[in-house]
Amino acid sequence: MRIIRAKDYADVSRKAGNIIASVVTLKPDCVLGLATGSSPIGTYQVLIKKYENGELDFSRVKTVNLDEYVGLSKDHDQSYAYFMRTNLFDHVNIDQANCNIPSGLTDDPEAECGNYDKLIASLGGTDLQLLGMGPNGHIGFNEPDEVFTPGTHCVKLADSTIDANARFFATRDDVPRQAYTMGIWGIMQAKKVLLVANGKNKAEAIRAAVTGPIDPRVPASILQLHPDCTIVADEEALSLL
Ligand code: F6R
Repeated sequence: MRIIRAKDYADVSRKAGNIIASVVTLKPDCVLGLATGSSPIGTYQVLIKKYENGELDFSRVKTVNLDEYVGLSKDHDQSYAYFMRTNLFDHVNIDQANCNIPSGLTDDPEAECGNYDKLIASLGGTDLQLLGMGPNGHIGFNEPDEVFTPGTHCVKLADSTIDANARFFATRDDVPRQAYTMGIWGIMQAKKVLLVANGKNKAEAIRAAVTGPIDPRVPASILQLHPDCTIVADEEALSLL
């Protein structure tokens, strides 16, 4: 694991944006695994700026997102499909037909999840997987559990995740209780993993993921086994290391 220390959120975003930009530059038809939530928003803004400056071309890039809430349509303003359009896809020259996110409205969850893993495999895997991390150590929506689940699956969100994400919804009751998430195989098969974290509320999860045992109760700890994993985090998130 490589840990890059950043001064603050802007610095995390700049450094992470530069890493993703280098992947797109070296391989214009790369497959990017993307994340939602507050952590990557600044990184996406850096990528948008680079596109606007003529430094980056997304026309041949393909994407697979980590997760989607069960029950939200792609036009719901809290769906991750909507998040990706408003925070990145609508602002760069990516072909949105090449942007993949599990459907929150599928009536056949098992087929949807199985097909998502087949899709990742058919794309040749991801060149880079961008991750945020929950304060409880979750990656994607792989919540703390007794086992690591390899494939894309439906997960019951932890109470602490519902609490953490309530800030994006009108009330806590509006937060969906379940999500579809890429599993640990989907994340670990990426050629590169890039985790971005900032703020004090991530410090304990960073400590446990980086220095603790590999344990499904801290899902991000599996990243210790990845051959090319980079964490870019600010001083606060690294304060317990
Ligand atoms: C989002 C995702 C989640 C978030 C995590 C951190 O696609 O998979 O694992 O990365 O919940 O969220 P923020 O960045 O809002 O603290």
